[in-house]
Amino acid sequence: MVFTMKPRFQDKVAVVTGAAQGIGRGVALRLADEGAKLVLVDRSELVYELRDELASSHPQTPVLVLTADMEQATDCQRTMQAAVAHFGRIDVLINNVGGTIWAKPFEHYQVDEIEAEVRRSLFPTLWCCHAALPQMLAQGSGSIVNVSSIATRAINRVPYGAAKGGVNALTACLAFETAQRGVRVNAIATGGTEAPPRRIPRNAAEQTEQEKVWYQQIIDQTVQSSLMKRYGTIDEQVGAIVFLASDEASYITGVTLPVGGGDLG
Ligand SMILES: NC(=O)c1ccc[n+]([C@@H]2O[C@H](COP(=O)([O-])OP(=O)(O)OC[C@H]3O[C@@H](n4cnc5c(N)ncnc54)[C@H](O)[C@@H]3O)[C@@H](O)[C@H]2O)c1
Repeated sequence: MVFTMKPRFQDKVAVVTGAAQGIGRGVALRLADEGAKLVLVDRSELVYELRDELASSHPQTPVLVLTADMEQATDCQRTMQAAVAHFGRIDVLINNVGGTIWAKPFEHYQVDEIEAEVRRSLFPTLWCCHAALPQMLAQGSGSIVNVSSIATRAINRVPYGAAKGGVNALTACLAFETAQRGVRVNAIATGGTEAPPRRIPRNAAEQTEQEKVWYQQIIDQTVQSSLMKRYGTIDEQVGAIVFLASDEASYITGVTLPVGGGDLG
């Protein structure tokens, strides 16, 4: 028997936040491979490079590109309104914006740094879920995947871990509220992921020697805590995100799936 996989996102409208690089970019390319109409959002103008790349690699893929700051509720609302104005619906929302800004033991964080971590890694997901939900509920369908982290049990980034713990909780609670109205909400707890050097840095300041040591401790602990004793690839994260977003996961909601080589976070 020949097994032919149909494009899972044919004619579906998918919003991907933080699409300019890394995991978000990988998700956007995979969704394009599988037939989606894309709304790509990032704070960085580099997201326009991805649009140009898609124009040559996937000329049939309709793409709307926006720059916006997902830490701002109004920008998240503007993004979802633009998606609906352009494509008429939102079937899939991938909340990918996040990432630790600092790496150090908790006692070394300043109060304003703790707030910045929560703004970066909790609020974009909270705001975007809130902004997309009315459209999905009106449609009676939708699939949200939040990109969380195994860093909910990890060293040298307590504020980030706390923010991602919030993402896991909002995933479970929102799924509870929306399951009978056609909207699924899931998350992946991303493990350590190899990626090319970041063109958009999470923190533009040069690392001190001490900060390099603290960052290396994160890498060592991440490898040690995984059963496979290695980092994963962007493709390994993308596969899980896209599965949860697709109708193949139609009986799965409220779940945070660890994708960390056996590290459950
Ligand atoms: N890379 C890893 O090892 C790893 C591990 C665990 C979890 N994660 C999670 O996976 C997700 C993606 O990680 P990554 O390493 O690909 O990220 P990255 O830092 O490489 O890229 C993040 C993208 O989001 C954009 N962005 C950041 N803040 C934004 C904002 N306020 N508004 C709009 N766009 C914004 C950036 O410009 C960038 O394009 C994050 O949520 C991160 O916490 C990553």
